[in-house]
Amino acid sequence: MIRTILHYPDPRLREPGKKVTEVTDELRKLIDDMAETMYAAPGVGLAATQIGEPWQIFVIDIAAEDEPSNLQVFVNPEILARDGEITWQEGCLSFPGVQEDIDRAAKVRVRAQDRDGKTFELEADGLLAVAIQHELDHLEGVLMIDHMGPLKKRLVHRKMQRREDAHATR
Ligand code: NI
Repeated sequence: MIRTILHYPDPRLREPGKKVTEVTDELRKLIDDMAETMYAAPGVGLAATQIGEPWQIFVIDIAAEDEPSNLQVFVNPEILARDGEITWQEGCLSFPGVQEDIDRAAKVRVRAQDRDGKTFELEADGLLAVAIQHELDHLEGVLMIDHMGPLKKRLVHRKMQRREDAHATR
């Protein structure tokens, strides 16, 4: 089922996700919904908190359009190591129409569980490293706007607020 993606400045985006103690069938259903919602948007990543579900879960698929899809599920993710620096032009499904350069670690080592609750570790660089850090932020209630300088922050805030006001009066 395709879920509604919350847009900034919805306060629910600031609520951190709760740790998953067991990946139940109910949570697997949520993961399916998250994947469906991400693909429909379309986007390369989606965190549970972006659809108002307060769990430490995100999904990522960075496969190019001409490649087969490659869904990666991260439950209770944690970054074990970061290395280097990279600047990437990021977007976010909770910030429609916004694309800004954000500084991130160039490489990360992450530990998480998959949709069967099995623990895995992964080393990532490039887009995958950026996406993991972006989605992990969501699970802590941190948004891309928090990584911007004061001027950009004001501009993006105003743009999103205007967009929200326009929707509210429709
Ligand atoms: Ni995002």
